[in-house]
Amino acid sequence: MSELLLFKDIDEPGLASREVYERRGGYESLKRALRMPREEVLQNLLDSGLRGRGGAGFAMGKKASFLPKGTMDKYLVCNADESEPGTFKDRELMQKSPHMLVEGMIIAAYAADANRSFIYIRGEYQQQAEILERAIEEARSAGYLGERILGSDHSLSLVLHRGAGAYICGEETGLLDSLEGKRGNPRLKPPFPANQGLYQGPTLINNVETLATVPHIIRLGGQEYAKLGTETSTGTKLVSVSGNVQRPGNYEIELGIPAREIIFGLAGGPERGRDVKFWFPGGSSSPVLTPAELDLPYDFDSMAKAGSMLGSGAIIVVDDSQSVVDVALTLAKFYRHESCGKCTPCREGTNWTVKMLQRVESGEATPMDLDIIASVQEQIMGNCLCVLGDAMAMPVASMVSKFRDEFEAHIETRRAQLGLGEPTEPTPLEAVGVGS
Ligand SMILES: Cc1cc2nc3c(=O)[nH]c(=O)nc-3n(C[C@H](O)[C@H](O)[C@H](O)COP(=O)(O)O)c2cc1C
Repeated sequence: MSELLLFKDIDEPGLASREVYERRGGYESLKRALRMPREEVLQNLLDSGLRGRGGAGFAMGKKASFLPKGTMDKYLVCNADESEPGTFKDRELMQKSPHMLVEGMIIAAYAADANRSFIYIRGEYQQQAEILERAIEEARSAGYLGERILGSDHSLSLVLHRGAGAYICGEETGLLDSLEGKRGNPRLKPPFPANQGLYQGPTLINNVETLATVPHIIRLGGQEYAKLGTETSTGTKLVSVSGNVQRPGNYEIELGIPAREIIFGLAGGPERGRDVKFWFPGGSSSPVLTPAELDLPYDFDSMAKAGSMLGSGAIIVVDDSQSVVDVALTLAKFYRHESCGKCTPCREGTNWTVKMLQRVESGEATPMDLDIIASVQEQIMGNCLCVLGDAMAMPVASMVSKFRDEFEAHIETRRAQLGLGEPTEPTPLEAVGVGS
């Protein structure tokens, strides 16, 4: 791995302990940051161009700068829910280098002038939660957390909160409701958390990887960090590669390298004799791309220009042994199950989509139903309270449009097996429980 990479020490034995972390230079960035005025720390974050690693890719420094000035309680929340299918980078970071996250949080809280912080970790991550608890205690006993940290005017509490295993609690406002002890439902935005977040107070909420990058930005300096990656996608990224590849795992890459280098060079590509059929560039919520797009630079803007997104940086590879109908149906079932049900387009739309895809799968649908599926996805997108609905609609719409021939062939084969005649009209909607 290149010397440029930030997380290269992560496999250092014992790094989860404060002692080893400090021996590797840990908490030096915190000391340096506390010697600067908080405005200078914020400026470093702005200069770094770091974009959020949790999904939306919003500039972290800019988000921190949105928090109002004043003496009210302000909060920093770390999103460690990591529920996006295909994403498992935060787990490795927290497990192997919990102090990197803790240090990043203390610095980020200083920059945003927040004095209370929380890590919201998904319920399934029990081992990582225990490791983090230990790290928080070690940081507290070294004076890195608590009142007047290392003699500065910065004070910070840090509480670890375990979720109960719901995808919607990764959505930032659902997470905040859950953290407040309510059912984890998304809130209407605006107001955004920077103005009214946790307990109605100004709140900076960031992903684990985003916050764990902060000590490196302070170590290198914001402008130096910005030289990594591309102009608009600075830095390095942890990419989780899964699906039909020979070496699935987490890889740290400099943003902007060709996707092919990640899928084939690092993850080994599909088994011999198999080809990539399509790939999700940013978790299961991202519209699928085809082999024609494998040479694109892997960065936020190139993925967006290709009609998809970098999302959480989770690449899922699907080879030519898989059925696109199966993938679409499995994916839609996940989102139906995880929809909180608060808004109609998502609650009904995910359910309709599953029912219609089940009819495609069984051969009871007609090819014209594919137009209805596409139209349902269009009516979900942009019309939900949060983007969970879109997270299903975008990939399903992309699969139906890019692999329409395969969907049609599947229906035809199944119809022949069932002894059904030529399709003449779309499946009556009542038959799938739609609109009745
Ligand atoms: C349904 C849904 C699930 C999400 N799950 C996660 C998650 O598990 N982890 C995460 O960091 N962001 C998740 N997000 C994105 C968060 O809402 C938010 O954008 C992110 O925590 C901001 O951090 P960042 O700017 O550092 O990326 C999810 C969004 C949606 C709509």
